[in-house]
Formats: sequence, structure tokens, C-alpha cells
Amino acid sequence: MIRTPPDLRISIDGAGLQRRIDELALISEAPPPVVTRVLFSEADLRGREYVRKAARDAGLAVREDAVGNIFARWVGSDPSLPAVGSGSHTDAIPNAGKYDGVVGVLGAFEALAALRRAGFKPRRSLEVVMFTSEEPTRFGLGCLGSRLLAGSISIEKAQALRDPEGRSLDELRAAAGCAGPLSAVRLAPGTYHSFVELHIEQGPILDAGNIPIGIVEHIAGPSSYRVTLHGEGGHAGAVLMPVRHDAMLAGAEIALAVERAAKSSGSPDTVGTVGVFRIEPGAVNSVPFKAYLEIDLRDARMDTRSKALAEIRAAAEQACARRGVRMEFEEINADPPADGDQKTVAIAEEVCAELGLRSLRMVSRAYHDSLFMARVSPTTMIFIPCRNGWSHRPEEYSSPEQIASGAEVLAHTMARLSA
Ligand code: GLV
Ligand code: MN
Ligand code: MN
Repeated sequence: MIRTPPDLRISIDGAGLQRRIDELALISEAPPPVVTRVLFSEADLRGREYVRKAARDAGLAVREDAVGNIFARWVGSDPSLPAVGSGSHTDAIPNAGKYDGVVGVLGAFEALAALRRAGFKPRRSLEVVMFTSEEPTRFGLGCLGSRLLAGSISIEKAQALRDPEGRSLDELRAAAGCAGPLSAVRLAPGTYHSFVELHIEQGPILDAGNIPIGIVEHIAGPSSYRVTLHGEGGHAGAVLMPVRHDAMLAGAEIALAVERAAKSSGSPDTVGTVGVFRIEPGAVNSVPFKAYLEIDLRDARMDTRSKALAEIRAAAEQACARRGVRMEFEEINADPPADGDQKTVAIAEEVCAELGLRSLRMVSRAYHDSLFMARVSPTTMIFIPCRNGWSHRPEEYSSPEQIASGAEVLAHTMARLSA
């Protein structure tokens, strides 16, 4: 008979899980407490080796695909059935902390190890995925591994990606030892029966409310744009103000338009950020002849995001026309939001109630691999609090107890889904 909560008694090894999180954090391009693991960097490659070993230590069978997604499976008693999936990422943006993504990979290994120790026997296979490049650092595009798994990016577009040094995905993945064509990455329909990602909230709600678990019902849709501005350079002393075509000032107007459009969209969930702004030649006594911006625009709703984008484009065109600056405005990605699966959400909620843990249904404002897994499988996410909502910075922190609670909810949820 399949045992499900509350009959199933499992014990998460919170101290062991914390030790593994700490060990992985030391595999970084920067000294502690900073964690930086950019896709296919030396640190990322060593981090992947750590993940493979942790998966094997948890008794899971490991395989990899052509883009470096790592799959760790516990084969169920009926391997012909679609599996119950979990997982997240272990790449980390520059100057990050140690929990973003990692909790969802190492925490899922511990969840499965705890189920095994408890004598649980899954009917459906249970599988943990470490997704390649959830972070956009290297190629400017996030969720590369899960996008390819879901068929949400064309192979041509993936092959056209270049990093800032001009290296292609094909070149870098081959150097990292990933073999086979990218077209083989896409999941066969029905691979997963359900998918549940464990993650730190990366926002302040759970921490402020002292709520141990969030259950994600909706993931906001991210979009990003590349803007290149071509003006005219010259001597900062000699070129008089009326005849200037300053690319930086056109960029500054665009950055302010992003803020204005996001604030006035009519949705509290619209957020707009210019996180990259470079100018050339970058000399104090030279008028900038070129500016390069990257805009991140997100919303839980598509209509208000589209309205904000239209306003940004119109303001950018006006600013460039007025200043005699030529603009190239290019979409990097424009992904729709995703809904959590109500049945899966309800199961996670029921597990929390049975474990005596308060839970809250939430919107994820950050994007996650679940945004793409939701296109190919019923999906939800389990959030745990992180101190002050801090994330993408070295001060990111969740306590060992908070992490263990998340892993426990994940274990029971996967057990129930696998029955
Ligand atoms: C993911 O890291 C995001 O930017 O939401
Ligand atoms: Mn992140
Ligand atoms: Mn993440």
C-alpha cells in the first residue's frame, strides 16, 4: 500500500542539507560570502560535478542532456508512468548568495533521500532536474535549459546566442562536455505528471508575516529588451550644446520612461528596470557617441505589460528623434505569465495543513524554471522565507529550519503526487 501523509513519517536531515549548501557555496568565482557561478565558468563546471555527486549520494540515477540539464531519477514501481519532477538551478549571478536555486536542487535530493529512509516506494518515478542557466548572465536570456526542455525557444534562436565575448552556446556547451544536438533537449509530451520547485521567496512577504511556506499560484511574465543608441561623439569642451547628439542623454530619457511607464501602468505588479547601461567611449571629456541599455519589464498581467512597453517605445522614439540619435530596439524575450496548477497547489496546501505549517498562496514576481515547466506539466512552487526578502546579494539567508520545512513539504507533496 502507498503511504501518504500523515501516515508517512519522514525526517529531513536539516544539518546535512545545510552542510551541502555551504559546501556548494564555496565553489564560486568570488570569495565567501559572495557566490558567483556563471554558466559554464570553471566554478559552474565544478558546481555541476558537486551536484552529480550529491545526486548519486542520494541514491539517484544521473543523466544529462545536450544543454547540460542534469536529471537525477528514483525509478518508481511503474516506470511507464509520467514522473513527478522537482528541481531548480545552481548557477548564480555575480555577487549572489548561496540559496537562490540551490535550495531547490539540494533540497529536492534531501527530500527524496528522506522518503527513501522512511521506506517509501514511489509508484511514479521521482526526478530532480538541475536546469542549465536559469540566470541570464552569460547569454542575456534566462531559463535557457527549461526553455529548451519546454520547446519555448527555437533551436535557431538558441544557436544564435552569443556571450559578451562573442562565444556561442554550441561552442561553450561542447567545451563543457555536453554532447548531442540541441533539438534532442525538448521533452517528449507527458514526460512529467507534475512538477514542484522549491525556492526561497526572494521577496519579503513570508519573512514579514512569519509564514513558513508559500505556495505559488501564478508566476509573473518577464520580458527584456536591448536598446542600442548611436549618437555623435566629440570634444566635451568644443562641441556646443545646441548641436549635440548625445547617446547617453537619449538613454537617460529612456531609463526614466521605463520608470514612468511601469509606475503608471495601472497594475501594481508592473516593474521596469534598466539594469545595464553602458556608454562609449566613457571618457569624462568626450560626448558619448554610443549607449547600450538592457530593459527588464515584468508583470503578472500581459495587458498592462504591453501598455507599458508601448509607452516606453514611443518615449524612446521621441527622445531619439529630438536628439538626432539613431536607435535599435530589440526584444530579447517576452514570456507570458504562468498559472500554477490548482490541483497541485491544493495538494501542497493540504500537506502543509497536515504538517501544522501555515501556508500562503502567492504570486512569484521573480521568474523561475517553473515558468517553462508549467507549459509542459501541471506545476507549482513551494516558497520558503528569506531574511528581509533579500536575494541576488551575498546577505541572502534562510535558516536551516526554514529550509528543512520546505524540503519536508516538498517530500510529502512529491510522495502524494507519485501515488
Ligand atoms: C530570476 O533570477 C529573475 O530574474 O527573476
Ligand atoms: Mn536568481
Ligand atoms: Mn532562482
